[in-house]
Amino acid sequence: MRIIRGIAVLVCAAVMADAARAQLPVETTLADFFQSGSQPDSYDQFIHSNNCGTCHGSVTEEVRIMQPWQGSMMAQAARDPMFYACLAVAEQDARFVGDVCIRCHTPRAWLGGRSNPTDGSNINDSDRDSVNCSTCHRMVDPVYEEGVSPIEDETILANLLKVPEDFSGGKYVMDFRDRRRGPRAVEPPHAFLQSPFHKEAQLCGTCHDVSNPAYTRQPDDTYVLNDLDTPHPTDVARDQFPMERTFSEWASSEFARGGVDMGGRFGGNRQVVGTCQDCHMPAVDGSACDFGDPPMYTDLAAHELVGGNAWAGEMIINLYPDEVDADTILASMERARDMLRRAVTLDAAQDGDVLHVRVINETGHKLPSGYPEGRRMWIHVECRDADGVLLREFGAYDWNRANLTTDDTKVYEAKLGIDQAVADLTGLPVGESFHFALNNVIYKDSRIPPRGFDNAAFKRVQAAPVAKGYSDGQYWDDTVFALPVGTTQAVARVYYQTASKEYITFLRDANTTNDKGQVLYDQWRQTGKSPPVEMALLTLEVQWFSNGDFDSYGGVDVTDHAAFAGCMTGPTGGPVEPACEPGDLDGDTDVDLRDWSRFQNRFGP
Ligand code: HEC
Ligand code: HEC
Ligand code: HEC
Ligand code: HEC
Ligand code: HEC
Repeated sequence: MRIIRGIAVLVCAAVMADAARAQLPVETTLADFFQSGSQPDSYDQFIHSNNCGTCHGSVTEEVRIMQPWQGSMMAQAARDPMFYACLAVAEQDARFVGDVCIRCHTPRAWLGGRSNPTDGSNINDSDRDSVNCSTCHRMVDPVYEEGVSPIEDETILANLLKVPEDFSGGKYVMDFRDRRRGPRAVEPPHAFLQSPFHKEAQLCGTCHDVSNPAYTRQPDDTYVLNDLDTPHPTDVARDQFPMERTFSEWASSEFARGGVDMGGRFGGNRQVVGTCQDCHMPAVDGSACDFGDPPMYTDLAAHELVGGNAWAGEMIINLYPDEVDADTILASMERARDMLRRAVTLDAAQDGDVLHVRVINETGHKLPSGYPEGRRMWIHVECRDADGVLLREFGAYDWNRANLTTDDTKVYEAKLGIDQAVADLTGLPVGESFHFALNNVIYKDSRIPPRGFDNAAFKRVQAAPVAKGYSDGQYWDDTVFALPVGTTQAVARVYYQTASKEYITFLRDANTTNDKGQVLYDQWRQTGKSPPVEMALLTLEVQWFSNGDFDSYGGVDVTDHAAFAGCMTGPTGGPVEPACEPGDLDGDTDVDLRDWSRFQNRFGP
């Protein structure tokens, strides 16, 4: 008896010790989030975009640089309420992680040393200029190429503590002087260096591969927390936990191998598109400035820079009415909707009593790509009878409550989460989670790969599909929907949603620090709850099909089975006797094995 009690006390003590250790935040330090490239405080102030706008298009709309950029999410990254809501939870989860967030979302604040404290409270009004003109136009190619890179770059790189080995993770290198860089040989009235880097996707890749440097990849592709208070051992993205891999997805696609003729779907005046710039900064007729007598180009890089986010802009207009121009943002939101419509091709075909739906990814990366939490795309199908009555709906979305029925359709999304080790450390349950800064497992990634997809190549860059298979070369996905008897018309749609209700409520409920989760939630409610955007729509007239119900008893049962067996003649190609018509399930005018397999599928009371 005494022994048993002793054990009980021991067990109890062990549980208590675990509970005491299992808590948030994880005690990471700034050192855990150190990354190479330019470091804070060594730069003169980044010039605000308003200054650039005076010559680059805030006056003349034909100069499609300042205005479209201003409406884009990159110009709003440090106003985006979703960013602040996520940042607050991240800081609750892992101390000092905010330093990496601010680095990419507002480089001006980071380089100016205002990511200290890392909760974002030091980000000032001018820093809300976000990913601004100077950010991109002072970026230096970290790979110095003799005779190609500006000669000044050699000194800049030599002055770094460490030159980044790869481009991603926000390890940007900035010119310490305000010398603006661009791809053309021009002579502006300001310091300028011609830079081939600005034509390369790597420039975008600097921020569009996001990794968690607190984790290290193991040989078995699991991710383990580093020793605390020490920088990541290699400082290279492929050894860290992959949060976003848009650039790597692109780099492993056909677009990165010289470009693809997309028939004018993307790129403006350009037929063949390859880089991020080609699709996201289309070539248009116009001039680059409204200063003096500027040359006209047929390949002006329009700074549209929109992706799929056609929602956050509206929240930003509400939250910063005196700081942003509503029309400019609304115009960019419309461009984003247009981009979403170009992103897919939808095919649908009837085969007897089923509907085949194919969704083709036309973009240069996964569809959807990038930020994983709460972002998704799905197929919606409506089946109607001759009177227009809705017989069946797949992937139904309740527009008032923002609830999506997910169990009868395909949802394209990534679901991240935590493993047992992180669960033990934090006290959070193992499995899927929205704790962006803690996640170290990808539980699902069903997003559709781009042209040129290769399983091995995607695995190398930590972008392999998870819990869903795609074959090499497959940049589409097929889904089969069973049509109810009596269907005469099927309507298939593909929807995109920036943020699910589950994610928005999580950001509100998990927040114990400030009101950022509530602010986001209130805005979400006011702006249509991240309304799904219809990317594609296809209407199909459905031909008559049989369902195997010989006796019209409302199901396929034993009696029908006997009738089917009597009608089964094998492939004849000839007409079917009227009494046997219910057995011709695929409508090819015979009753054979193909019908048999369909019949079996329907068998049941
Ligand atoms: C996200 C990065 C990014 C931001 C932000 C950005 N640019 Fe650019 N800009 C580029 C790239 C890349 C090019 C070259 C694109 C190409 O030629 O395909 C470019 C090209 C230009 C050009 C030359 C256009 C041409 O075709 O001749 C000018 C001028 C310019 N940018 C000014 C600005 C100004 C002003 C802002 C702010 C209002 C700005 N940029 C914001 C990346 C950026
Ligand atoms: C006083 C007017 C003026 C201001 C202010 C100004 N620019 Fe320019 N910029 C020009 C002119 C003129 C050109 C040459 C355009 C041409 O020949 O096509 C130019 C060219 C450029 C280019 C060259 C792009 C290429 O074709 O390769 C970049 C990049 C650029 N500016 C960035 C900026 C940024 C960033 C700012 C603000 C920090 C800024 N400019 C502010 C007048 C200005
Ligand atoms: C300094 C970091 C940085 C660089 C460099 C950068 N981006 Fe971004 N980009 C961001 C951030 C941060 C956001 C997210 C803003 C938000 O949604 O709040 C973003 C958002 C976007 C979006 C909108 C995504 C959506 O959900 O709709 C597109 C498109 C985009 N970037 C394209 C580019 C392209 C093309 C380039 C290169 C010319 C580039 N970016 C370079 C940081 C960067
Ligand atoms: C062939 C054209 C094409 C190329 C190349 C391309 N994109 Fe996109 N991108 C799109 C389209 C279309 C969308 C809108 C659909 C969507 O949101 O996924 C998009 C969306 C995005 C988004 C929003 C992600 C999402 O799914 O909501 C980001 C971020 C982005 N692109 C960045 C990039 C970067 C960075 C590159 C280069 C490494 C790049 N894109 C190359 C066409 C392209
Ligand atoms: C390496 C650069 C980088 C780092 C580091 C980074 N982000 Fe981002 N973030 C991006 C880019 C680029 C996007 C846009 C991707 C897209 O829309 O697909 C983005 C998108 C987001 C979004 C979605 C915004 C929207 O409106 O859809 C949120 C929220 C966000 N980031 C929060 C964070 C937080 C919090 C951290 C730190 C824990 C962080 N990010 C770290 C580059 C970065």
